[in-house]
Amino acid sequence: MRRTKCLALGICCSLIITFLIALYPLQQDGKPCSCDKALQLCGADLQQLCASFHSNKSTHSEEVRSQKDVYEDNTDWGPHKMAILVPFRDRLEELLTFVPYMHEFLNKQRTRHEFYIINQADYFRFNRASLINIGFIESRSDCDYIAMHDVDLIPVNPNITYPYPESGPFHVASPELHPLWHYPKFVGGILLLTRDDFTQVNGMSNKYWGWGREDDEFYVRMKMAGLKIHRPKNITTGYKTFRHIHDKRKRPRDQARIFDQKIKTSKLDRVTGVTTVKYTLDRRSVLSIDGIKVHMLNVLLECDLTQTPWCLTPMMAKEYKEKGLL
Ligand SMILES: *[C@@H]1O[C@H](CO)[C@@H](O)[C@H](O)[C@H]1NC(C)=O
Ligand SMILES: *[C@@H]1O[C@H](CO)[C@@H](O)[C@H](O)[C@H]1NC(C)=O
Ligand SMILES: *[C@@H]1O[C@H](CO)[C@@H](O)[C@H](O)[C@H]1NC(C)=O
Repeated sequence: MRRTKCLALGICCSLIITFLIALYPLQQDGKPCSCDKALQLCGADLQQLCASFHSNKSTHSEEVRSQKDVYEDNTDWGPHKMAILVPFRDRLEELLTFVPYMHEFLNKQRTRHEFYIINQADYFRFNRASLINIGFIESRSDCDYIAMHDVDLIPVNPNITYPYPESGPFHVASPELHPLWHYPKFVGGILLLTRDDFTQVNGMSNKYWGWGREDDEFYVRMKMAGLKIHRPKNITTGYKTFRHIHDKRKRPRDQARIFDQKIKTSKLDRVTGVTTVKYTLDRRSVLSIDGIKVHMLNVLLECDLTQTPWCLTPMMAKEYKEKGLL
């Protein structure tokens, strides 16, 4: 007898809920209907219930709208959209900090953006510049400017902005503000360019395997092309403007200079760039980090060992030869 009553109430409850869902697409609470609650609901005047839902609807849709401001691309924020290109390898914990932090930071400023993580999945030394070239090629056409962005550098001063770099490259992590690098020609860390400006200089040199210097060469490219580099103004927080989340103990940098790498990479490279980068896009995935969309590009770079033998360290070369991989 009790079971039948409960079943009947259950059906009544589902009917009401279906009705309410049809009226209002967001269910208030996802908890299963208990017998007691069903009793109350079935006893309630349906019309009154509808009225109360209607009256609450406006406040709820406002909540929904403000959530949208925080979590989705909003074309009301202007015509420009930034592709954040993050050269990447083995930095998962840094990425898990970076993406949610930057997403919130940029949303507060109403800067439209999209994350592209370019993961180097081959067995060569890290090539940051080539990964940025690939990110540029593979990022969506609705982004009209790029941020080359280190995954371990985040702005903590809310006055730091990521504007559309209309009048020339905008070096966000300027030498007066970067926690580590202070020489005047430094353009690493975070640098914004329009797609046109990046194309004009043929992107970055692909010759830089191992850590460092590719941004110094890129500085020369920009200068030669007559591009004026801009930097943030009136930031008063100095070297405390950014937080560096890199743990040197855990990840020593690959600073080896091998063969004639030092000589060959200290000159302007007029040959290689975004038009010559050779790679295979192994996989393209869309991931979610705390609900934030992230494009993950898994890439395999190609290295011509006769042109840039330093894409392997002697130790790597020895090991791969022994394993029959070369
Ligand atoms: C609507 O809001 C009123 C007052 O905030 C609240 O008492 C009532 O339970 C709400 N109704 C529903 C169906 O959420
Ligand atoms: C940001 O700029 C405003 C206005 O110039 C200033 O009052 C504020 O102190 C700045 N914030 C920081 C963290 O420097
Ligand atoms: C920056 O500060 C200078 C004075 O130091 C002032 O003349 C200028 O208007 C400020 N610029 C902005 C964008 O606030």
